[in-house]
Amino acid sequence: MKSYRIAVIPGDGIGREVVPAALHVLDRAASTFGFQLAREEFPWGSEYYFAHGRMMPEDGLELLRRFDAILFGAVGHPEIQDNVTLNGLLLPIRRGFVQFACVRPAVLYPGVRSPLAGRKHGDIDFVVVRENTEGEYAQIGGNLHPGASDEVAIQAAVFTRKGTERVIRFAFELARRRGRKRKLTSVTKSNAQGYSMGFWDRVFADVAREFPDIATESLLVDAACMDLIRRPESFDVIVASNLFGDILTDMAAMITGSLGLAPSANLNPTRAAPSLFEPVHGSAPDISGRRIANPLATILAAGMMLDFLGEEPAASVLERAVIGVLEAGGPVTPDLGGSAGTDEVAAAVAEQVERAPA
Ligand SMILES: NC(=O)c1ccc[n+]([C@@H]2O[C@H](COP(=O)([O-])OP(=O)(O)OC[C@H]3O[C@@H](n4cnc5c(N)ncnc54)[C@H](O)[C@@H]3O)[C@@H](O)[C@H]2O)c1
Repeated sequence: MKSYRIAVIPGDGIGREVVPAALHVLDRAASTFGFQLAREEFPWGSEYYFAHGRMMPEDGLELLRRFDAILFGAVGHPEIQDNVTLNGLLLPIRRGFVQFACVRPAVLYPGVRSPLAGRKHGDIDFVVVRENTEGEYAQIGGNLHPGASDEVAIQAAVFTRKGTERVIRFAFELARRRGRKRKLTSVTKSNAQGYSMGFWDRVFADVAREFPDIATESLLVDAACMDLIRRPESFDVIVASNLFGDILTDMAAMITGSLGLAPSANLNPTRAAPSLFEPVHGSAPDISGRRIANPLATILAAGMMLDFLGEEPAASVLERAVIGVLEAGGPVTPDLGGSAGTDEVAAAVAEQVERAPA
C-alpha cells in the first residue's frame, strides 16, 4: 500500500479548526482509495511563539524536509504583529523550500451564490499563479530612527530573471495542461514601476514565444481588479507577482462565494523539497473558537495535495464530494448562508467521499 508522509501545521485561530476537519476527510479518502497518510503534527504558530519567542524551532525546515507534503492551516494572532507571525513561519517555508508557484483556483461551484449579479456555476473558472519566493515579499529593507519623527522605512522588491521566468513558464504550462481557453493573463503595474514590472513584462514576452498555442494578455493590476468584477468569465490562467497575486486571490475568492472556499497550493514543481497546501484565508480571529469556520477551502487544498502526490482519482472524488455537498444545498457554514458547524460540513463531505466508487 502506498504511504505518504504528511507534516501537519494547524497554526493559529481557525487553522486549528479547519485542519482537523480536512484530516477527517483525508483519512476517509485514504481508506476508500487504499493509500496511507503517515501524519506528524507540529504545534508551531503563535502559542509556540508565546512559549519560545519564535514561531517554529530553528531547525524547523530541516524537520519538515523529510515529508512528502505539508498541510497548513493559518498564522496570525491579534497580540503579535502580523509581519512577525508571517515571516516567522509561512514565508520562510515558502522561500526555503522554493515553493515558487502558488496555485490558487477560483471556481464558482454549483449551489454557491456569487455577489456578482447573474453569474452562475461554470461562469467563473480560472487559476491565479502567484510568484511565491521573491518580489514584494522578499523581506529586504529596514527602519532608520524607528519611532522618531524623521523615521525612514525602506522595503525593497526583488525580481530576478530566474524567479520571474520560472513562475511565468509554470503558468504557461498550466494553461496548456488545463486545455480550456488556453490563455494566460500577466498582471503588473509597469506604468508606475517601470524597473521591476517593466522587466516582468519583458520576461513574459520572452517566455510567451515558447508557447505559440497560448493566447496572452497583459493587464495593469488596477484594470485587472476591475476586470475580475466586470468580466471574470474571460480569464483562464493569471500570473502575477507575490503582492498582486495575494490581493487578486482574495478578490477571486469573494467573487466565487467566500474566502472559506478558496484553496491554495504552494508548489515546488521540481519536487526537490516538500510543497505546502493551505486555505487562502487567514486565522480569522473574529470567528475563531466558535467552530463555524468553513472547512471547504482546506478540504479542497487537501485535494490539491492528493493530486500533487499522484492520487488523482482520490483528488477528483474529493472535489466532487465538495461539489455534491454544495449542490445539495448543504450543510454549509454561515459564510455561505448556512447554519452548520465546521465538523458537520466535513462529515458530510467525508460521507460523499466514502460513497464514491473507488
Ligand atoms: N496564509 C495565512 O496564514 C494568512 C492569510 C491571510 C491573513 N493571515 C492572518 O490572519 C489574521 C486575520 O487576517 P484577516 O482578518 O485579514 O483575514 P482572514 O482571512 O483571517 O479573514 C477575513 C474575513 O474572512 C472570514 N473568513 C476567513 N476564513 C473563513 C472561513 N474559513 N470560514 C468563514 N469565514 C472566513 C473571517 O471571519 C474574516 O471576516 C491576521 O493575523 C493575518 O495576518 C494569515
